[in-house]
Amino acid sequence: MYSSVKLGIKFIRYWFSAENGKGHGVHSPFVFDFISKVLNDEGEYYCYNSIEQLREDLLKNTTLLELEDFGAGSRMHASYKRRINEIALSSLKPRKFARLLFRMVNYYQPDSVLELGTSLGITTAYLASADEQKPVTTMEGAKAVAALAGNNFKRLGLKNVSIIEGNFDYRLPQFIKTAAKVDFVYVDGNHRKEPTLKYFELLLEKIHDNSIIVFDDVHWSSEMEAAWDLIKAHSRVTLSIDLFFVGIVFFRPEQKIKQDFVIRF
Ligand SMILES: C[S@@+](CC[C@H](N)C(=O)[O-])C[C@H]1O[C@@H](n2cnc3c(N)ncnc32)[C@H](O)[C@@H]1O
Repeated sequence: MYSSVKLGIKFIRYWFSAENGKGHGVHSPFVFDFISKVLNDEGEYYCYNSIEQLREDLLKNTTLLELEDFGAGSRMHASYKRRINEIALSSLKPRKFARLLFRMVNYYQPDSVLELGTSLGITTAYLASADEQKPVTTMEGAKAVAALAGNNFKRLGLKNVSIIEGNFDYRLPQFIKTAAKVDFVYVDGNHRKEPTLKYFELLLEKIHDNSIIVFDDVHWSSEMEAAWDLIKAHSRVTLSIDLFFVGIVFFRPEQKIKQDFVIRF
């Protein structure tokens, strides 16, 4: 992973070279819609407070959890035992991006959601709250973490979440084999080039024209940047949106000429 200084410099470069985030000068109606109705939607949705209250409680919880190490995990820790508040501080997507995931599911209304990387369940909760009739499957390799996430879903009253425990490397192929299709996927774990590309290839087997895949931390390391470049360039991808801390790909055939957007968020 890049040092904080290098990442900071990259972020500054992104900020000054990106589209201004207001949609001015964006000629794609689909992307203009994304900017104006999803990215910049400042509405306060019903679930926001209860999920953030849960995050607050996790940030105060000093209980130690036994963790399995899956490689490229956190920027701050590599030990096998971590406190819940340390995980909550370093591994979870900040509110701004977690809420963006909620708004994307709320707006695009995918039939189902798949998440790789549950951790304590914060982004899962946002993804699942957008439509409690739509199934959300989330995968997590660390047993104790998955168990805690399960309790968190109960606390939030979320009944549409299924947790698949185990390594993505074998859980995802099993899932893909039986899934009829994948509609919306958030890939937030194992941030290395080869695994990320392998997960992408597997997901491609079941994507359709309206599928959306969100990759986390696409500028986190040179490996992730290399993976992101290959994903954007893939022939099935017709549109990509780079928000620096996440990269989103679409497969819409209506997008006749492939376009890559970098948008300030
Ligand atoms: C960044 S955290 C997910 C954070 C969560 N999406 C959020 O923002 O609320 C990544 C999680 O993926 C899990 N993970 C990483 N690599 C994995 C693998 N190969 N198989 C299963 N789980 C893995 C880690 O245990 C960790 O809990």
